[in-house]
Amino acid sequence: MKLTMDKIVNLCKTRGFVFPGSDVYGGFANTWDFGPIGVELKNNIKRAWWKRFVQEADNSFGVDAAILMNPRVWDASGHTASFSDPKMDCKNCKTRHRADNIIENYKGCDVVPDKMTNAEMEKYIEEHDIKCPNCGKRDWTPIRTFNLMFETSRGTVDGNKDVVYLRPETAQGEYVNFLNVQRTARAKVPFGIAQIGKSFRNEITPGNFLFRTVEFEQMEHQLFCKAENAFAHYDEYKKLAWDFVVELGLKPEHLRYHDHDKLAHYAKAACDIQYLFPIGWQELNGIHHRSDWDLSRHEEFSGKSMQYLDPITNERYTPNVVEYSIGADRLTLALMCEAYDEEVLDGGDTRVVMHLNPAIAPYKVAVLPLQKNMSEKAHEVLKKLNKYFMCTYDEAGSIGKRYRRQDEIGTPFCVTIDFDTLEDNTVTIRDRDSMEQIRLPIDKLVEYISDKVMF
Ligand code: GAP
Repeated sequence: MKLTMDKIVNLCKTRGFVFPGSDVYGGFANTWDFGPIGVELKNNIKRAWWKRFVQEADNSFGVDAAILMNPRVWDASGHTASFSDPKMDCKNCKTRHRADNIIENYKGCDVVPDKMTNAEMEKYIEEHDIKCPNCGKRDWTPIRTFNLMFETSRGTVDGNKDVVYLRPETAQGEYVNFLNVQRTARAKVPFGIAQIGKSFRNEITPGNFLFRTVEFEQMEHQLFCKAENAFAHYDEYKKLAWDFVVELGLKPEHLRYHDHDKLAHYAKAACDIQYLFPIGWQELNGIHHRSDWDLSRHEEFSGKSMQYLDPITNERYTPNVVEYSIGADRLTLALMCEAYDEEVLDGGDTRVVMHLNPAIAPYKVAVLPLQKNMSEKAHEVLKKLNKYFMCTYDEAGSIGKRYRRQDEIGTPFCVTIDFDTLEDNTVTIRDRDSMEQIRLPIDKLVEYISDKVMF
């Protein structure tokens, strides 16, 4: 089976994972709404991340910071000055492109555009006659730098409004709460601050479904540590980040580390984990050794000391930061791509099945009465199970069709109520992957399912 993005998009739309944003108005480019199945999947992924990086981690604390922050935050972080991409427009077909991407995708590319100035990129494009990938003409505007932050304004009187930004990353909400968390949690370095929340970027070339959107969720964890231990923590987080996505369901052969050659001036090391999406190898997450840059800059711009006093050695210092950042929507997409399968069955039929890790499956159990006159008993079973698990109920159509519907949305267990159930309080429970069925007393269902859906 060749997996394409179209197959995933189509399944998502038809089965209620993800719909185009503002659909009844014809959509709104690069925005997506999670439907009833998708919201369960994404919430389960976020819960798994929180469990691993907050609940089970030593010395790790969560926050949920405001999206709108004091604009000085973005001066301190460097986003107002340099969170930008080099954009060019094709005058012929009126499409917009990133100059660095145009050069990177050029067949004979022998340069690293990240290291070039705008003037150097313009010269390279001209000398190598690089044409618009959309219309094939070379009729470019000069390169302009385009800040990716969305601006809005605050204030009630027109003409007296202050510019504020929708945050382009959640990380700053963790840095500005360093002192608050350290004090109230009585946290000792090394400790972590984690956050899951929306970020916004006015991307020049969004696309590929959930891969790059203008509004997305990030799951970010900042570890505050001593400078001399930061490289060891960086290596540790590279491994933790890898193990997490493998445990969730991504195959190691579809993952690779990509160490950055070009580092931001403050960074000591940076690495992505890339995943083999249907569009090729692409960044899934990032791990960065950011030195003491973030806290030092907030100290400089806020005037508030960000130093940590070690209670044992009495040493005073500004901690370094090791950051681990992953997009919840991008990870959801990767996990859907990995789980999607079209299996040819013995009779020649094909079933579409999502082999999702049961821990993140939208519904854990589907309750299916064999016949409509068994619905009372089936609802009794549903009531027992939905106290513990997200369940669904379906009594429409043949049992075979109902199993297929559940396979397509990745439900790991189907519980069928049949004639024997009415006699002896037992049910069949069907496994999504093996399609095997066993018979169990209703009273044993919660115990049987519980440990199979734990993360
Ligand atoms: N605080 C560091 C930071 O934001 P980043 O590499 O720009 O680093 C981290 O973003 C992660 O956020 C990416 O690896 C990706 O998973 C996700 N991400 C970034 N931009 C995105 C976008 N436009 N759409 C969807 N996910 C995005």
